[in-house]
Amino acid sequence: MTQQSNGAALTPDEATITIPTGTGSMDSSSEPKQKGKNKGKNKNKNKRRNKLKGGKKRRLTAKTADRLDLYQRSVNSPETDVDFATRVFKELRERPLRHFREDFCGTAAMTAEFLSRDTRNTAEGFDLDSVPVEWGKLHNFGSVSDGDARMTFHLADVRDPADKRPDMTVAQNFSYFCFKEREELLNYFRSIHRDLAADGIFLMDIYGGPDALMEQEEEREIDDDAFTYVWDQVEYWPGTGEYKCAIHFRFSDGSEMTNAFTYDWRLWGLPELKDVLYDAGFETVRPYFEGTDEDDEEEGNGEFDFDEKGENCIAWIGYLVALK
Ligand SMILES: C[S@@+](CC[C@H](N)C(=O)[O-])C[C@H]1O[C@@H](n2cnc3c(N)ncnc32)[C@H](O)[C@@H]1O
Repeated sequence: MTQQSNGAALTPDEATITIPTGTGSMDSSSEPKQKGKNKGKNKNKNKRRNKLKGGKKRRLTAKTADRLDLYQRSVNSPETDVDFATRVFKELRERPLRHFREDFCGTAAMTAEFLSRDTRNTAEGFDLDSVPVEWGKLHNFGSVSDGDARMTFHLADVRDPADKRPDMTVAQNFSYFCFKEREELLNYFRSIHRDLAADGIFLMDIYGGPDALMEQEEEREIDDDAFTYVWDQVEYWPGTGEYKCAIHFRFSDGSEMTNAFTYDWRLWGLPELKDVLYDAGFETVRPYFEGTDEDDEEEGNGEFDFDEKGENCIAWIGYLVALK
């Protein structure tokens, strides 16, 4: 596995698998240290059941689980993301989104979903690491009709140009946080602006609120308790914005896949991102924030609406939509 010098690394070789010698029960000291309003940061709209044929539940353990499968089940919500991307593009550009570019694509779950929606859709994905890309080809693109002809994977830097000017470029799961210096981020945004079609749109997700700054763990049960996803905000330095995070997975036998993914980031704020996007040449930058679940005000409702100012809550999630 490659450790990218510019961060956002996936580190399977460094992931340690801890198999307990005790009874296998979960240690209650692993509860999140602090809970706050979580407006969907750890979205799980893509419910899948972990069952064998015949309905028998398979017991996942740190040894048997596939970490990229666990990641997708915990973190990605391709249907929601594609719903939002296609809706916003249609609303703002009054034409359908057709050529899509996914930066930091990893397993490219969002692109696979986009291609499956319409056979006229085409896409390009950029990632430096062949491991998630090859996994994605195998697991996400098998059922996409004519997928090979409509999708080009580039094992290349996100600052490289696409083969064809994209209608939309997306950077999902906060991957652009890997650019820690303003100049680096500005250069990335400039390269996107240059590369996009004349009426192109750049879409990036973002989260924040006081909860984001806390060094804490947050646990969530996935797929009817098949396993526990742990988002670990390991370090945050207020003077520089440096931000180290990790994902661990815990299992019902008490085993744990520790540091399945690690991130060496800077936590960028929304207003400063807007400033850098404008400096890169974007004409308009529109924030969209997730609404609150009407039955549980700790949860997001999966719906994102334009809101210049946002809502002051302990944890929020949204998109920035930058128009060329
Ligand atoms: C946090 S993962 C995100 C995967 C995917 N976007 C998702 O939503 O699940 C970040 C990915 O960015 C890739 N990456 C990091 N720096 C990159 C760069 N400069 N150019 C291309 N890919 C990069 C890593 O290899 C990794 O697969």
